[in-house]
Amino acid sequence: MKRVACAIFDLDGVLTSTTAEHFQAWSMLFLKHFGIELDPKLESLTRGVSRISSLEVLLNHYQIELSEDKKRRLANEKNRYYKHLIETFDEGNLLPGARELLETLKEREIKIALASASKNSGVLLNRLKIDGYFDYVVNPSRIKGKPNPDIFVKAQKYFGLKASECIGFEDALAGVEAIKKARMFAIGVGFEDLSKADLVVESLPQLTNGILDRILEGKQVHGRHRTSSSKNRT
Ligand code: BG6
Ligand code: MG
Repeated sequence: MKRVACAIFDLDGVLTSTTAEHFQAWSMLFLKHFGIELDPKLESLTRGVSRISSLEVLLNHYQIELSEDKKRRLANEKNRYYKHLIETFDEGNLLPGARELLETLKEREIKIALASASKNSGVLLNRLKIDGYFDYVVNPSRIKGKPNPDIFVKAQKYFGLKASECIGFEDALAGVEAIKKARMFAIGVGFEDLSKADLVVESLPQLTNGILDRILEGKQVHGRHRTSSSKNRT
């Protein structure tokens, strides 16, 4: 791995915690249309994947078959619930350490990109007041969803960099897989089993300056690194 020139971020679950809101919106939809209370365990399967793929995961689980048109209408309805739930989001909804990390990367003149599957990411960046940190936001509209690596590769190519000069941050298994398929250094954030990542931290403040410095200098390529508390979980 070379010295890092670009950091590519997922948004939901990495910089802001919208995980509960996304799943609450799905729960409202399934209760209303199918009288089903969603099993909370399904949440992790919808993480990182597109709106329509999330719906399909949930429908498959409950063996519900619908036309493409009906799926589209339900996905739109879920989005209306979701948008309502994030209406009040502001800087207070940034996850701990998010702004500090973006600030540090900016100071070190590292390019910052967003690789979120969410079509609501622009609105959120704005409400969280972090849009100014991003040099490039990948439009997820016509890109194959995670775990396909395309969204991360798109950011890499935009800057004309090598994969070995980029690092990715993800809270979802599908996202970590996408980063690894893109041949980048993957930092997993959160409590999920992200053991495919090169480094796992439970939250961004655990990425202390010492660890971050080594990663940015390209010294963390070989081997796997865990914070001591995450080590106990895997
Ligand atoms: C991801 C979330 O960031 O965005 C998923 O983790 C969500 O749960 C996906 O399905 C798409 O989001 P949106 O806002 O376009 O429905
Ligand atoms: Mg995420």
